[in-house]
Order: sequence, then C-alpha cells, then structure tokens
Amino acid sequence: MLTKAYASLVLAVDVVVALVKLILILLESLFRLVVPVEQKSIKNEVVLVTGAGQGIGKELAYQLHGLGAKLVLWDMDGVKCEQVAKEIKSMGGTAASFCCDVTDRQKVLELAKQVKQEVGPVTILINNAGIMPCKPLEKHTENEIRKNFDVNIISHFWMLEAFLPDMRAAGRGHIVALSSMAGLCGLPNLVPYCGAKFAVRGMMEALREEFRQDPKKPDIQLTTIYPFIVGTGLVHKPRIRFPSLLGIVSPKSAASHIILAMRRNQNEMTIPRALFHMNNVTRILPSKIADVMRDVIDSGCDSHE
Ligand SMILES: NC(=O)c1ccc[n+]([C@@H]2O[C@H](COP(=O)([O-])OP(=O)(O)OC[C@H]3O[C@@H](n4cnc5c(N)ncnc54)[C@H](O)[C@@H]3O)[C@@H](O)[C@H]2O)c1
Repeated sequence: MLTKAYASLVLAVDVVVALVKLILILLESLFRLVVPVEQKSIKNEVVLVTGAGQGIGKELAYQLHGLGAKLVLWDMDGVKCEQVAKEIKSMGGTAASFCCDVTDRQKVLELAKQVKQEVGPVTILINNAGIMPCKPLEKHTENEIRKNFDVNIISHFWMLEAFLPDMRAAGRGHIVALSSMAGLCGLPNLVPYCGAKFAVRGMMEALREEFRQDPKKPDIQLTTIYPFIVGTGLVHKPRIRFPSLLGIVSPKSAASHIILAMRRNQNEMTIPRALFHMNNVTRILPSKIADVMRDVIDSGCDSHE
C-alpha cells in the first residue's frame, strides 16, 4: 500500500517537473523568436569538410576560412580539392587537402590518423559528400543502388568511427550532416536517394538521443541540413513551379545558412527555412490532402536519363 502511494507521489512529482520544464522551454523558444541564439565562434576550430572540391562543400570551405577555422578538406577528386586548399592558403588561411573516397572505410580511418598528427583533432565534422542518381526506380542498377547508400549514408558511419572518439575524449565537438528535402519527403526519380537521405535523419536523431541520455553529457552538437535545390549542378533537371517559394538557392547562400545553423547549435534546418514547417504541417494532414498540395506545388527533379 505504502509502495503504491510512494510510486504515485513520484509520478506526480515527475509530471509537475515535466510541465514546469515544458513551460520554461516554450517561453525560451518564444524569446528566441525575437532574440536569436548568439552564433558561436569557430576561430581556430579544426573543421573537416567532405566533398570540398566543388559545390556546397567548396563554398563551406571558403566561408569557414573567413571565420578563422583551420580547414581539412576531403574529396575523391583530389585535384579540385587541392585547388580549393591552395586558394584558401593564398588568402592567408590554413587548409590541408586530402584525396579520399569516403566509402573506403580503411582509407578514412588511416587518413583520420594522419589528419590528427598533421593538423590536430577534428572538432567540427561536416559530412557533405553526396551523389544523386535521378531516374525511375526500375532503371537503377544494383551497383548504383549500393553506391548511393555507400556514399550518402554508410560513409557517415566511417566518418563517425574515425572522428567521434576524439570528440568524446574532449567532451566537445560538432557534427553536421547534409541530408536533403528528399530526406523529409519522398520524391519521384529519387527512390534510393530518398532512402539514404531519410536514413541520415534517423542516424543523426538517434545519435543526438544517445548523447542526451549519456551520463557524461558530452557537449557534442548535431546539425542536420535539408536543402531543396542548390545550384551546384547536382540536380540536372530541376522542376520548379513557384520560384519565389521554392527557387534554386546559390551554393554561397546554402553554405551561409548551413554555417549559421551550426553556429547557433540548431538540430535541424531546411533550405529554404519555410519548408521545415510546411513539411511538418503536411505530415499531420490526411495523405490525400498532402497529395493535392504536392500536385499544386509540382516541383522536384526530372529524370536525368
Ligand atoms: N545541390 C542540391 O540541390 C542538393 C540538395 C539537397 C541536398 N544536397 C546534398 O548536399 C551535399 C553536397 O551537394 P552538392 O550539390 O555540393 O554536390 P556536388 O556534386 O556539387 O559536390 C559533391 C562533392 O562530393 C564529392 N564526392 C562525391 N562522392 C564522394 C566520395 N565517395 N568520397 C569523397 N567525395 C565525394 C564530389 O567529388 C564533389 O566534389 C550532398 O550530400 C547532396 O546530397 C544537395
């Protein structure tokens, strides 16, 4: 009888504490709508960007250099990557480039050791490298499907294996992952890509939960980015009906949004921003209403073949 009463008391206290927490978090969120979170400094942080040879990764490298970061640039196209590093060094920055296929676990682990010796422990990791085969499902070969998953999601695990231990040891760090709007809603011609990009979201959310429940409470921040279409050439045939709402974003603008989200320790961000709420609202509506909305918006990627 006494144990039952005690259990009820504990439950009541838990509920009250949770309610107070909820109210405080809600008030803080409202306050943050008016006064945004201050952007953290990344001066002298060792930032590793994968896929830094072109597109969003290259823009990230330039802008991170402008903020005083020490850059470690990886790309499977070693020539382009070296060119980016050279330009940053010519502007007085610190940048080391490495040719690396991020799907090659052994190479990733070896290079990680080299980076640690030559530059120092990586404190910010940006998993940006990606590919986007775009055609109806039946036209994807077995190799293409496997490669899509290897590059767009499995490689993230090798990067975590290589760099998370040092972040855990230091008790601090930041991991940024490039998913896609195709990681929040299914799109035709992108079935394997959507599968991998949805997985990026699941991986990041689960990892965040592991850190949150870790008794050591490591200060390792996680940021997942969901761009729609960025003008890098990755999307060969964009279909856009409302350019003012869902236009093509420049790589420069995408990179500055990603860095802003990272410096504010945001968990998730879509590019453009409004898509995040649009997607959430659509998800609570009956799926037939979502279908009608998709038909009106009529935007996405036409097949590359
Ligand atoms: N461009 C878009 O419209 C768009 C939209 C949503 C999400 N994204 C995501 O943003 C990220 C960057 O896209 P982007 O448009 O800059 O692409 P991009 O093709 O312009 O550049 C990608 C870079 O990654 C490198 N890369 C590819 N496979 C690699 C591998 N196995 N190992 C190492 N490097 C590799 C390429 O050599 C290239 O330099 C990708 O993850 C992509 O899925 C892009």
